Amino acid sequence: MAFLGRWRLWTSFLLTQALELPPRFTLDLRKPAHTRWDGAVDLILSKHPYEESFLPVFQEHNKSLFDQLNASHFDALGKAVSSHYPETALELQGIAQQFAARGFPVTFEYLSAWLYFHELAHSDVVQKLDARECTGIVAETADGSIMQLANMDQSPLAARNLTLRISVVDDKGEPLFEGVDWYTLLSTGVSRAVKRGVASVQENWRSTDPVRKLDAIMADIQRLGR
Ligand SMILES: *[C@@H]1O[C@H](CO)[C@@H](O)[C@H](O)[C@H]1NC(C)=O
Ligand SMILES: *[C@@H]1O[C@H](CO)[C@@H](O)[C@H](O)[C@H]1NC(C)=O
Ligand SMILES: *[C@@H]1O[C@H](CO)[C@@H](O)[C@H](O)[C@H]1NC(C)=O
Repeated sequence: MAFLGRWRLWTSFLLTQALELPPRFTLDLRKPAHTRWDGAVDLILSKHPYEESFLPVFQEHNKSLFDQLNASHFDALGKAVSSHYPETALELQGIAQQFAARGFPVTFEYLSAWLYFHELAHSDVVQKLDARECTGIVAETADGSIMQLANMDQSPLAARNLTLRISVVDDKGEPLFEGVDWYTLLSTGVSRAVKRGVASVQENWRSTDPVRKLDAIMADIQRLGR
C-alpha cells in the first residue's frame, strides 16, 4: 500500500509537471516590430530562471553547432536576416535588447543564427546533435471538432522551459493564428500553429543524407535568405 501511495503521488507529480501549460503571449502585429515582443523574455524568466531555461539550451546547442561558427558566419547571418527579412531583424533586435537589459549575452547575430538553426543543423560541422524525428496526429472527435496533437523531441529537456504559447493578432486586431514552440524567442516564429477553421501545421525534423557543407548552406542563406 505504501508503495502504491508513493507511486500515485509520483505519477500525479509527473502529470502536474507535464500538464502545466506554458505561458501565453499575445503578439500584436499592429505594434512596431522592434517592440512587438516586449515582455516575452520576462514572461519566460518569471516561470523559470535563466540557469534552468535558456542557459542549458544555449550550452548544448553551442557545443553541438554554434561553436563551430566563427565571427564572419555570425556577421553574415545577421546581415542575411536584415536584408531578406528586415521586419524579422527588427523583432530579433528587440528580443536581443530584452536579454541585454537582464545582463544576458544574447546578441542579434546569435539569434539570427538560431533563426537558421534547422538549415545549419543539417550541415557537416555539427557535432553529435541529438536529432530525433517528431510525430504529429490530426484527429476528429465524434462532434466533428478537429484536434492536432504534436510532440516535440526537444533537446535538452530544459528546452521545455522556454515554451511559449502565442496568439497572433493581425493588423486589423483579428486573431490570425495560435502557435506553440520553444524556439519562439530564438526565431520569432513557431513550428506548430493552428488557424481555427482553416489548418494546423507543424514542422518535422528529417535527416539529410549526405549532409551538406556549411559553406554551401551559408551561400544559400546569403543569396536567398532561406
Ligand atoms: C553561445 O555562443 C554565442 C556565440 O558564440 C556566445 O555569444 C554565447 O555567450 C554562448 N552562450 C553560452 C551559454 O555558452
Ligand atoms: C570563418 O570560416 C570560414 C570557413 O567556413 C572562412 O572562410 C573564414 O575566413 C573564417 N572567418 C574568420 C574570421 O575566421
Ligand atoms: C525547468 O525549470 C524548473 C524551475 O522552474 C526546474 O526545476 C526544472 O528542473 C527545469 N526543467 C529542466 C528539464 O531542466
